[in-house]
Amino acid sequence: MEIISVADVRVDSCRGCNACFSTEGNLCVQKDDMSWIYGKLAEADVLVIASPVYFYGISSQLKAVIDRLHAPVRNTFRIRRLGLLLVGAAELPDLFDSILSQYELVLRFFKLDSIGTVLVRGVKDVGDIDGNPALEEAYELGTSLR
Ligand SMILES: Cc1cc2nc3c(=O)[nH]c(=O)nc-3n(C[C@H](O)[C@H](O)[C@H](O)COP(=O)(O)O)c2cc1C
Repeated sequence: MEIISVADVRVDSCRGCNACFSTEGNLCVQKDDMSWIYGKLAEADVLVIASPVYFYGISSQLKAVIDRLHAPVRNTFRIRRLGLLLVGAAELPDLFDSILSQYELVLRFFKLDSIGTVLVRGVKDVGDIDGNPALEEAYELGTSLR
């Protein structure tokens, strides 16, 4: 298992130039950390995405990485299963609806199976999640992959 913290890498937004569809080797013209992240994704069987809720969506750091998958390199990936972990401060029942809708559409588009989701409300500050049953849920999700 390998963790990539999207908060600690430099990945710029997709420019939508579509140059990657015509460049030699289908490489993105932007030279940033996505260059090695593509390689890591090409080696993965399962991808688990984690994000805080930012204005009812995922964080812009994670969205930038996902948008950069609008590139032919993704056709070399063998990922078939996806998981989703989300935390948000509010207790709203529909807090995760827009992200879950996007998740379902992505699963369908790429013909992926979901290994499950862990959705945690009422988590605002560092440490708020301590003792939350969601941690056990996430652990179980992880062990189910063995
Ligand atoms: C820019 C920003 C936008 C946020 N938007 C929401 C939101 O729409 N709904 C919500 O419940 N929490 C929102 N939050 C709170 C975070 O989801 C919450 O603090 C979360 O626990 C942060 O997780 P982290 O410590 O892993 O970054 C927002 C926080 C930030 C910084």
